[in-house]
Amino acid sequence: MVEIKNSINDIIISSAKFLAPFTKAQEEYNTFIRIKTKLSKSLDKKTIHPKKASLIRKYIIDNIILNSIWAISGVKNYKDFLEDVKKKKTGTITITTKKSKEKAVIEIKDNGCGIKKQDLNKIFKKDYSTKKTSGLGLFMADKVIKKLKGDIRVESEPKKFTKMTITI
Ligand SMILES: Nc1ncnc2c1ncn2[C@@H]1O[C@H](COP(=O)(O)OP(=O)(O)O)[C@@H](O)[C@H]1O
Ligand SMILES: [Mg+2]
Repeated sequence: MVEIKNSINDIIISSAKFLAPFTKAQEEYNTFIRIKTKLSKSLDKKTIHPKKASLIRKYIIDNIILNSIWAISGVKNYKDFLEDVKKKKTGTITITTKKSKEKAVIEIKDNGCGIKKQDLNKIFKKDYSTKKTSGLGLFMADKVIKKLKGDIRVESEPKKFTKMTITI
């Protein structure tokens, strides 16, 4: 029988692979993004049920990486876009995994636009978006994390970084 590998690390790797073409496409608009991973070997053997793995991948990891890609490109509207496209932007998304007390800790950090202190408590709310998109990404991610009895924390400094720490 074929063994299906589905560890937290596998989820991160498959999400980064899935989003690579999207990151590459930004180069056409002068935005160069690198996704770096530092994955703990201690999590390699801990497999997750495929259904749970797909929830984590779709609602948590893909969404948060996509937010980071946007934060690095930083374009909010078409007018911005026309101006921004002339400037070269580079950024890194660093994804780290660790094991802590039988739980997995995933950190997704980007050096994009960051979030103002007064907005930090709004980002998990339904419909909150500064880019005229659904505003559902982090709302759904938070819901799924809570369902899995996990936790998500955000740290950010405008124009410097945003770091999401997920414990599941
Ligand atoms: N990595 C990030 N850097 C800067 N701002 C972020 C980041 N992730 C989320 N945000 C802020 O939180 C808001 C809500 O995110 P989300 O719920 O995913 O909705 P949406 O992506 O549709 O805007 C974003 O519009 C943005 O203002
Ligand atoms: Mg989003």
